[in-house]
Amino acid sequence: MAEELPASSVPTATVTADNSSGQTVASVEQTPILVDQASIPAVIQAMTLDEKINLIGGAGAAVSGAAGGTFAIPRLGIPKLTFADGPAGLRFGSTANKSTTGFPIPTALSSSFNKDLMYNVASAMGKETLDYGVDVILGPALNIHRDPRGGRNFEYYSEDPLLSGEMAAQFTKGVQDQGVGVSMKHFAANNQETNRQSVNEIISERALREIYLAGFERVVKEAQPWTVMSSYNSINGPFSAHNSWLLNDVLRSDWGFNGMVMTDWGGSKNNGIAMLKGGNDLSMPSLNAVGKAAVKAAILDGSLKEETLDEAIENILNLVVKSPTFKKLSTVDNSKLNVSTDLAASDAQLSREAAPEGMVLLKNNNKALPFDKGVKKVGIVGNSYTMPSCGFGTPASACTTDNAASKMFLMGTGSAYVTPTQTVQLPEGLKNGGYLPVNTNATGSEMNENLTADDAAYMAQNSDIGVIVIARGSGEGADGNATTFEASAKESDLIEKVSDAYHAVNKKVVVVLNVGAPFNTVSWRDKVDSILLSWQPGMEAGNALTDVLSGKAYPSGKLPETFPIRLEDAPSYANFPSSDGNPNLVKYEEDIYVGYRYYSTFKVKPAYEFGYGLSYTMFDYSDFKLNKDTLSNKIKVSFKVTNTGTNVGKEAPQLYVSAPDGKLEKPAIELKAFGKTRELKPGQKETFNFFIDPKDIASFDESTSSWIVEKGTYQFKIGASSSDIRGTLDFKVDKDIVAEVDNNNGPDVELDRLSKFNQ
Ligand code: BGC
Repeated sequence: MAEELPASSVPTATVTADNSSGQTVASVEQTPILVDQASIPAVIQAMTLDEKINLIGGAGAAVSGAAGGTFAIPRLGIPKLTFADGPAGLRFGSTANKSTTGFPIPTALSSSFNKDLMYNVASAMGKETLDYGVDVILGPALNIHRDPRGGRNFEYYSEDPLLSGEMAAQFTKGVQDQGVGVSMKHFAANNQETNRQSVNEIISERALREIYLAGFERVVKEAQPWTVMSSYNSINGPFSAHNSWLLNDVLRSDWGFNGMVMTDWGGSKNNGIAMLKGGNDLSMPSLNAVGKAAVKAAILDGSLKEETLDEAIENILNLVVKSPTFKKLSTVDNSKLNVSTDLAASDAQLSREAAPEGMVLLKNNNKALPFDKGVKKVGIVGNSYTMPSCGFGTPASACTTDNAASKMFLMGTGSAYVTPTQTVQLPEGLKNGGYLPVNTNATGSEMNENLTADDAAYMAQNSDIGVIVIARGSGEGADGNATTFEASAKESDLIEKVSDAYHAVNKKVVVVLNVGAPFNTVSWRDKVDSILLSWQPGMEAGNALTDVLSGKAYPSGKLPETFPIRLEDAPSYANFPSSDGNPNLVKYEEDIYVGYRYYSTFKVKPAYEFGYGLSYTMFDYSDFKLNKDTLSNKIKVSFKVTNTGTNVGKEAPQLYVSAPDGKLEKPAIELKAFGKTRELKPGQKETFNFFIDPKDIASFDESTSSWIVEKGTYQFKIGASSSDIRGTLDFKVDKDIVAEVDNNNGPDVELDRLSKFNQ
């Protein structure tokens, strides 16, 4: 707790009380009120035990439709704060009818590999948060894409902790620079929806530190999030909200986090004692009466120290004094149903511009994209799909489509679903772009996946190019499975009929993948000319997609996760969503070999590798240089990227390291830095300088609780993807380096860990 102030310097309020004869008189006691951080100790001292216990449980939101809020104590000057969801835009429950800007899903934003873009989108969200009188936005969400079936993968950034952490750090800075807070979630390892409230995940400390916690560590150190949200699941025994190793030892002590920790909604399991001992300050959305009574009894009988409760109170009040509500920077007006007009138009434009940066061009034969000048009529047809889960206040209409070409999924569902200020679907976007969408057969009926060969022939004759939209959506509450990953028989048939019909009249066919997670392309990709992964591109989907198809904009995204050939190829396949036939147990046996770390080390060929993405132009990489050949503290890697094609474009270069095996085994490659060029015209170039220090390339040694770099010869690999390596530079480490020493209370875990040495 912070040092106490002398009573005289603490602002006070005169309180009134009734005297014995019933008259109201000024009390002799002066009550301190909360005015700033320095006043917190005196305010805590003035709080009754019941007030303290009330404050560690949430108590509803001041802004209607928001996810929750804190408890107010007016006599001490403590206002109620409001928290609302939002990794893809500020969210209010759909019944509140409050609209905000719907941005591309977080996976699409991370596909941009563009930190500035992420910062700008987050700044816009932060402004909308302030505009509505909300204090904290419940994001970024940065769990790892452990398995392609993860139901909330769309809400998370990547299978790689560096990309996830960098994107989440930019999200945090962008939001917090507007004077509102974030809640970095779900800490940690909420990598599946199945039994998320009860599943116990067995994970080695090395895999935790290097993969599942590393992104969170980066955000804490680079961007100081105001709050953290603990996850529902257990890790190696205790629930995250009760896990003192996770919250006290790692988050606060090792990383220096000094903000507030809240539970996920219901994540304290109403066990306030375990929560406080675990280092979690606030139970959301509330702590029930039984939970409160238990905390009180434990304090009174001495089994829970009042200082532990006071530490939580101090963390909560530290948040309060930073908040826009407390600083009177925002006001709550529940009749307000739209983002203020000065934000709405520019944020819609930003959403439209952000989407192409995250779109990934997977295939582009014979330059099918962008459209030729002669293209005027665009044949469009899509699949039908209903999401496996549509819970948590998402309107049912957002979870189903009869024809994805006329109704794409704009975003994922659940707590990441926002009520958008406006929506633009593909037919409208094409019209706005000056094209004529053609989506009917000879009898004038709109076509979907049930079209016949004759219908397809009619469309091919009556349009200049064919666009097939294949959609998948998901959301909180359910994971995917084989049917969400594979094209159905009808979808395969749709692709085949349309491709045959257009190719028969020498016209091209493009598939747009409107998905939030990896989708299998291998069975049908040879049939079509181009495949554009649009993800779920936000509320401006139709405009953004038309911009890219037409060449007004261009795709410059790269895959933030591996697209496997078969679901069975995923290293987590056998242990997702459970292990050993026990629905509440998951063994992370793939250990550190998550995503491309696995595919590259074990030489399993994916459909499209991590970091992959084509463009409308070509890029050459050159002038690879190191400022020295031995790493001791910092080493500089430089190279140039030149646009050698004939169109404008942006490229996302990636820096990987290959390390020698020593005491610790190492994956074949690990991403250590990435960048994005500005828009390069043909012939233009950009120089990149990446600085790498020992911690960047260290591995976690469980036997010494430290991050070590072992001596040997290493390689930097600079590439356009994790397999398309354009330049290699050797460097040496002359002697073993201990880059950092961490808390040594780590879990002892029994696990059959995947190793390249026991295959
Ligand atoms: C989700 C969180 C969300 C919270 C509040 C939970 O069900 O897991 O991501 O922030 O609800 O809506």
